[in-house]
Amino acid sequence: MHPPTLGLLRPPGTILMGRGQRHALALHLPPGAQHALVVTDARMSREPAFAAMMQQVEEAGVRHSLVADVQSELPVADIVDAQKRLAHERVDVVIGIGGGTCMDFAKVIAVLLAHGGSPQDYYGENAVPGPAVPVIAIPTTAGTGSEATPVAVVSDPDREMKIGISSPYIVPVTAICDPELTDGAPPALTAAVGTDALSHAIESFTAIRRTPKPGLASERVFVGKSLLADQYALAAAAAVGRSLKTAVHGNSDPNRLAAARDDMVFAATAGGLALGTGGTAAAHALQYPVGAATHTPHGVGVGALLPYVMEFNRPARVPEFAALARALGADERQGDDEDLSHAVIEHVALLLSDIGIPATLADLGMPSGKERWLATQAIKATRLVENNPRELDADALEAIAAAAYRGDRASLRSATPAHAH
Ligand SMILES: NC(=O)c1ccc[n+]([C@@H]2O[C@H](COP(=O)([O-])OP(=O)(O)OC[C@H]3O[C@@H](n4cnc5c(N)ncnc54)[C@H](O)[C@@H]3O)[C@@H](O)[C@H]2O)c1
Repeated sequence: MHPPTLGLLRPPGTILMGRGQRHALALHLPPGAQHALVVTDARMSREPAFAAMMQQVEEAGVRHSLVADVQSELPVADIVDAQKRLAHERVDVVIGIGGGTCMDFAKVIAVLLAHGGSPQDYYGENAVPGPAVPVIAIPTTAGTGSEATPVAVVSDPDREMKIGISSPYIVPVTAICDPELTDGAPPALTAAVGTDALSHAIESFTAIRRTPKPGLASERVFVGKSLLADQYALAAAAAVGRSLKTAVHGNSDPNRLAAARDDMVFAATAGGLALGTGGTAAAHALQYPVGAATHTPHGVGVGALLPYVMEFNRPARVPEFAALARALGADERQGDDEDLSHAVIEHVALLLSDIGIPATLADLGMPSGKERWLATQAIKATRLVENNPRELDADALEAIAAAAYRGDRASLRSATPAHAH
């Protein structure tokens, strides 16, 4: 029987995408806004493009306060410092300009300014009690999709692993996605963030399929596979297939390079729209402890894990893997869905290797003998573990971690069960 299908999207109110669209920032400030908090990092704060955006805000008659030193990993103490500094001010809009770290900072401070308390009060799913201060997100990396997602990820010294705040109330009201802001990104950054976008597309498209009972979308922020999220996941995968290599390696034709950058900005936002309701799964669950142990960029760790997680999940998602093969251009040698579901894993592994993502956890710098620890930490990321299409326990996660450490995908290969769905 045709499986019952849920469709769910929680997009920003406005997504504005295209070269030069950052010049329209002032037109998207909320009506009547008098005070904006602008959140960025040291690199971006020195860019002429940043100064020009600030000038627009000033010329619109909106005064702004600035957090211009967002740190990678997003330590929660920095957000609390900003909260204290602004405690007696009314902030009408928070503008996050930068990579995922700056956009996530903007989302969390927007919650604290609206509701008070401390970041810890909002960890997990659906703990934000109501609308936050409106956020305008302006990405400078093409990857995390944070400009379109209901999640922000912080690090807290009281916790071994990074932790998420997930709520529909933190989806930015406006995303301004201007590929010109990503043009200067160096190859390693472009590769890491592009891999993150690919992982969002693959993990949300192959996520668990939940019975679409009424209320599901209110109980959970991430509901698993959804008809609407699927469209963005496939579109993101196709854009990655067309353009990630060119965006990383460059092209002597500036028009082709610009088109590849544009495509990756689209892939990132589309991946964010998909992950925003579909959610991610095993690769992200394992990445939390891998990131904590290796201090490597989020996208690189996810990429090192992705082909192994795909191998483990493949038997439960053969038609989906075949569809991803077609989207990614891994279907030159046609076959049936079963053939394509194998081909796409090899295709992803080769693509990631081509752009310099380590092929194993050992290459990533993970110490040996940590597989059980990785599994016992990863299993704590309940929302990600529960979102995986194949059931995960500590043994399964350990098997994936061990295979990823050794570069041994074959150890995870299993036949497609007759009733996979
Ligand atoms: N909220 C979400 O939905 C979501 C999804 C995935 C990841 N994340 C989080 O996002 C963070 C990672 O974000 P990221 O990968 O975008 O990296 P980032 O924001 O940490 O930036 C990485 C580095 O790249 C630099 N940079 C940014 N844009 C640049 C550009 N155009 N040119 C040159 N350098 C540039 C930054 O200054 C920084 O040094 C992690 O904390 C991760 O957990 C959030």
